[in-house]
Order: sequence, then C-alpha cells, then structure tokens
Amino acid sequence: MVVRDVLKMGDPRLLAHANPVADFASPELAQLIIDMRDTMRALDGAGLAAPQIGVGLQVVIFEVSANPRYPDVGTVPFTVLINPVLTPLSDVIEDGWEGCLSVPGMRGLVPRHVALRYQGYDAAGQPIDRSVSDFHARVVQHEVDHLNGILYPMRIRDLRDFGFTDTLFPGQNLQDD
Ligand code: NI
Repeated sequence: MVVRDVLKMGDPRLLAHANPVADFASPELAQLIIDMRDTMRALDGAGLAAPQIGVGLQVVIFEVSANPRYPDVGTVPFTVLINPVLTPLSDVIEDGWEGCLSVPGMRGLVPRHVALRYQGYDAAGQPIDRSVSDFHARVVQHEVDHLNGILYPMRIRDLRDFGFTDTLFPGQNLQDD
C-alpha cells in the first residue's frame, strides 16, 4: 500500500486546471486510482482529487461510510469519477462546513448547490450518471473544484466562518476530509 504525500494549500499545483483522461486502459491510471484510494483511506478523508497528490488529471474519488463523526450525512459509496461534468438540479444553495486534506486542521462554511447531476466515467471507462443531494452533492462539488484549481477557502463568503477545527468544534475530534 502506498500512501502518497498530499499537497497543501500554497502549492501552485493545487491551482492548476487538470487535464481530461484520454486513455482508460493505461496501467498508470489504474495505479493512480489505487494510490488515491489508499491515501484517502489512510488519512480518513471523504474524498481526494488527483491534483492533491500532484497528478494533473481529471480524476476524483470519494467515499463516506457510516461514521460517528458524520452522524447526519448518510453514506456515499466508494466512487471513482473521471472527466466529471456537474449540472445543478436546482438553484437552492446551502452553507455547510467543509475541511480538506490540503488545508489540514481547518474548517470553513461553504455554499454549495443542494442537488446536482454528475456525469463522467468510472475506472473502467464506463459511464456514470447520478443525481444526488445534500452531503453527497457537497462532496462531489468539493472534489471537482480541485480539478479547476479551486480550494474551498476561496468559496467562503465570510472569512469569520473559517477557523481551526479544534477551536470551532472542541472535543469533537473532527478530522480533515
Ligand atoms: Ni479537498
């Protein structure tokens, strides 16, 4: 198992636009996805985008299992999403707290579409087309932002809603995701 280093905010590679995947059969893509999964799980994250480990490709993964840290958010199946396209399903925007493995130890209140459709491809190049809402939709928007060089602090509307996790949520032992 290989746990890759996760780039932190300030690294210019996190600000770049990622390129679409063209070759779904390449062993490099398969290995990238394995490394991303191992890294996300080792760090107890809810998602990871390829640029976070220094690879400028449009690949994101996410997974939320039943977890006492997120009692209200439900579960999201392990998903590999390549070359994603997001389409909001309504104009409703909701604020929610987010963290990020590239911004360790912090949380911010971020507005996101409550419901959206996402399309793209899985690791085998098969089409994915899902309509989701709430935390699932939030995670997808956060991860796809990484492919466009956007980190969640850039979306916080009021920077008073940004701070250190252990100060904002004392005693909750929240981790980065
Ligand atoms: Ni992130």
